Amino acid sequence: MLQFIRSDLAQLTAYSTHHTDNSAVHLDRLDVNENPYDLPEELKEKLAWTWQQQIESNRYPDGGYLALKEAIADYATDSSNANFAAANISVGNGSDELIRSLLIATCLNGEGSILVANPTFSMYGILAKTLGIPVVTIARSPDTFEIDLTAAQAAIIDTQQPPIRVVFVVHPNSPTGNALTEAEITWLRSLPQHILIVIDEAYFEFSQTTLADELVQHPNWVVLRTFSKAFRLAAHRVGYAIAHPDLITTLETVRLPYNLPSFTISAAQFALSERQHLLAIVDVLLTERRKLIAELSKHKQLRLWNSDANFIHIRLQNVNEADSKLEAIYRSLKQQGTLIRYTGGGLRLTVGTPDENQRTCDRMKQALVEML
Ligand SMILES: Cc1ncc(COP(=O)(O)O)c(C=O)c1O
Repeated sequence: MLQFIRSDLAQLTAYSTHHTDNSAVHLDRLDVNENPYDLPEELKEKLAWTWQQQIESNRYPDGGYLALKEAIADYATDSSNANFAAANISVGNGSDELIRSLLIATCLNGEGSILVANPTFSMYGILAKTLGIPVVTIARSPDTFEIDLTAAQAAIIDTQQPPIRVVFVVHPNSPTGNALTEAEITWLRSLPQHILIVIDEAYFEFSQTTLADELVQHPNWVVLRTFSKAFRLAAHRVGYAIAHPDLITTLETVRLPYNLPSFTISAAQFALSERQHLLAIVDVLLTERRKLIAELSKHKQLRLWNSDANFIHIRLQNVNEADSKLEAIYRSLKQQGTLIRYTGGGLRLTVGTPDENQRTCDRMKQALVEML
C-alpha cells in the first residue's frame, strides 16, 4: 500500500461491474438489471443528429441543467400527485453519484452513520466506506424480505457514535424485488426530521408505485430515480433526485461543476420528450416477467417471489448447502452463456427479451440437472 493512501482504504476493493468482455462469445447479459432493448433506430438517428448539429465539442456543458431539470420536474409531476419544479431536482452522473453527494452532505467528518437493511443495493455501503462513514446493517425477513423494523428502530435510538443520519431504502428493493410495505412506510413517516430518508426508486417505472407524493410533507425525504433502467440510457449515466429545495441546493453545492456530459443531457431530454414511445416497453417486460416467474416456478427445487421490478430473485427450497448449489447454478448458467448475479443470498436474474428468457429457462433446467 502506498504510504500516502488512507489506511482504511486498504481493506476495500473496487466495485466489480461483472460484465465479461469477450466479444467472440455471445452472452445474455442478465446480470445488471439493464433494459434489454436499445433505443429504437429512428430515435438513435435523431439523437445522432442532435450530437452533430447542436453540440459543440469544444464547449463545456451547460452546467446549470435548467432545461433538463424542468423536463424531469414535469415528468415527476405527471407520474405522481404532487407538483415539482426545477428547484426540486438535482441531476447526477448516474444515481450512484447522487448517493455519494448525499453521503458527503450528511455524514462526513464523523457526523453520522448510515442504516441499510441487507440484502440491498450494495453501493450505499460501498460508497459510505470509501468516505470513512460507518455502515449499520440490519436484516430482512427471509420469507418476505420486509425490513426488521424492531431492529431498525433499535438502531436509530441506540446511542452509538456517530448517530444514524441517513436511512437508505429501495422501493422496490434490489436484489429481492419487493416494494416497501405499508408497515415500512409508516415507520419511515415516524422518523425524526434530523434523519435523512433516501428512497431509491430506480425501478419506479416497473413498480408504478412512488413515495414522491409525500415529499412535500417530509423535507427530510429524498427520492432517487435513474434513466438507466426503463428509459434505456444506462450508457449515458444519468440519475436524478427529487427533494425539498434546501436539500437540492446542498446537493448542488457538493457536486462537480460539469457532472453530466452534453450528449448525456441531450439524451435524457430526448428520452423524456419521447417517453410514451420508450416506456411502452415496460408492459412488454412485465409480461415477460410474469412468464419467466411462472416457468421457473415449475422447478420444485427453486423458491421464487413476486417482483415489482425488472428482475427476479431466486433461492433454493432446501436451504442446506444453498450457498454451494446457488454458486453452481450461477456458474452453469454462465458457462452456458447467460450472465446473472449471485448476490444477497440468492440469484438475481434480469428480465430479458423473449428469446433471452427462453434460453434462461432452458439453461436453468440444464443447471438443475447438473446439480442433482
Ligand atoms: C437500487 C439501485 N439504485 C441505483 C442504481 C444505479 O443507477 P445508476 O445507473 O443511475 O447509477 C441501481 C443500479 O443497478 C440500483 O439497482
